[in-house]
Amino acid sequence: MCGILGYIGNRDCVRFLIDGLKRVEYRGYDSAGILIYDGKNTSVVKQPGKIIELEKLIGDSLKGNAGIAHTRWATHGEPGHANSHPHVSNNGNIFLVHNGIIENYTSLKKKLEKESFTFYSDTDTEILVNLIQFYYAGCIENAVKRALADVEGTYGIGVFCSEEPGVLIAARMGSPLLIGIGENENYFASDPASVLKQTDEVVYMQDGEIAVITDSKVVHKTLDDVLLEKDVEKISFELSEIEKSGYDHFMLKEIFEQPRTINDSMRGRILLDEGTTKLGGLSEHPEIYSRLLNAKKIFIVACGTSWHSGLIGEYMIEEYARIPVEVEYASEFRYRDPIITPGTVVIAVSQSGETADTLAAIKEAKRKGATVFGICNVVGSTISKETDAGVYLHAGPEIGVASTKAFTSQVIVLALITIDLARHRNMSFREGYKIVKELKNLPEMVEKILENSEKIKELAKKFSSASNFLYLGRGFNFPVALEGALKLKEISYIHAEGYPAAEMKHGPIALIDENMPVVFIAAKDSIYDKVVTNIREVKARNGIIIAIASESDSEIDLIADYVIKIPEVTNLLSPILTVIPLQLLAYYIAAEKGYDVDMPRNLAKSVTVE
Ligand code: M6R
Repeated sequence: MCGILGYIGNRDCVRFLIDGLKRVEYRGYDSAGILIYDGKNTSVVKQPGKIIELEKLIGDSLKGNAGIAHTRWATHGEPGHANSHPHVSNNGNIFLVHNGIIENYTSLKKKLEKESFTFYSDTDTEILVNLIQFYYAGCIENAVKRALADVEGTYGIGVFCSEEPGVLIAARMGSPLLIGIGENENYFASDPASVLKQTDEVVYMQDGEIAVITDSKVVHKTLDDVLLEKDVEKISFELSEIEKSGYDHFMLKEIFEQPRTINDSMRGRILLDEGTTKLGGLSEHPEIYSRLLNAKKIFIVACGTSWHSGLIGEYMIEEYARIPVEVEYASEFRYRDPIITPGTVVIAVSQSGETADTLAAIKEAKRKGATVFGICNVVGSTISKETDAGVYLHAGPEIGVASTKAFTSQVIVLALITIDLARHRNMSFREGYKIVKELKNLPEMVEKILENSEKIKELAKKFSSASNFLYLGRGFNFPVALEGALKLKEISYIHAEGYPAAEMKHGPIALIDENMPVVFIAAKDSIYDKVVTNIREVKARNGIIIAIASESDSEIDLIADYVIKIPEVTNLLSPILTVIPLQLLAYYIAAEKGYDVDMPRNLAKSVTVE
């Protein structure tokens, strides 16, 4: 989604702003723009397309010590020049970059039209910048506050006013924003990755806050003018973690990072001698934690890949901890008036911690009195702050739009929670011990699968021109089938469907012919035999079988056309292994087709609009 960035200080900031925008390219965008103040004049350069094109357009023509910049992911209006940010007020003095959506923009527009304002774009942002002009009476801070008091919706904004060039204003309601602290220079940004090369000291803004930024200080206030003392925090990751480090794409790097990230998600959380797990983010809040331990019902709310890991969580928690679980798309949960009674606990799962639908579901659940736990990757994200307690994934920054390492870490964290719950309820030491011991071996097993990547690459070459794929799995591996299909369609634009394997004969079987690759997740587990029956059904209709199967399984070699072998592991942990070949298959097919794997068309890394 959109990225915003601003600088004020004593250095030429054009390079910094362009580099900072490039750091958030992964979030998805379709146009980019920059405003620079050179001490006398302001210049705006913006256009649809990639940042590299904007960079070419700017060349050496711009220099200045203050500026604001933006990448836009179109919501109101097409991604053309007029709709790109920064937007400027009618009098040419006020410039605005904005993430989010002004919901009441139509009524604000009418109000401003009556005051003879003219609009040149289709955006809600242009309305806000003119509203700020409307209220401007010599103090940009006050004008922004007055304008925001009229606004309904979400925003993270950065404002520059040529009548007060020594100050930038930043304000936040629902869209992430932070202040970067430098020496004789300061920054605002929607993503810490944009400023990390300059500073690792940041102040995270919260909803309803405004920051008045000069080169020497930053004053934090609420929008109704109460001064705030804010903590300076350190960015929780290193620069090397947001670089490709020799890989062709971030996605490939992140797939190969999984032995380490899986380990990081478990580190310090396994009590082998007690055959259980302990998550500080939960146990440090005993009263809230006991609500989870005694939950009568759990809802898991999430979107996309996080929803798939939530489904695995449902299978795990119901089978091992015997608590009823319902998994909901966050976007549906919010609007369908779910039944929340005393004892209902909601777990929100999100890599970014900023997904608008998931946030809205959390708010709705809290409004109805549920206790809400978060499972997030991004430290300090909005969801991590909005929930009563929660657990971080510690998977490090995920840049590739197609989520990979966050998925395996989510499944790990859900397994850790399941074991903790189950051991408090009904699971024996013996069973707990067996599972946590296997958890510890997972990084090595994932490493082993990754060593086989060349074979998967070869397979990808064979199937890169297929126009449809079917992914089938059962039990814990049914959500993996959904995830495999999602990965493929996201980055290769090949149509793919995921189904529970047995459900195939109720409809999708009609699609099967000699051109249809069918990926079966057929690990040796309690329903293996049933999956084999489903494989035979596809084979009988001449479908092409690609099977993800256990090392010891020789039977499958006789039925499937292509087999990718993986180590054997207990049922509940199986998805962490079976998903790896599917991630690689999707990646190599997309790379073979020459697509921009890290920035697939139309997609944003963090979907901050509903
Ligand atoms: O940041 P979140 O986990 O809340 O994001 C949810 C989805 O938008 C995300 O998983 C999306 O489906 C990815 N592109 C999947 O690869």
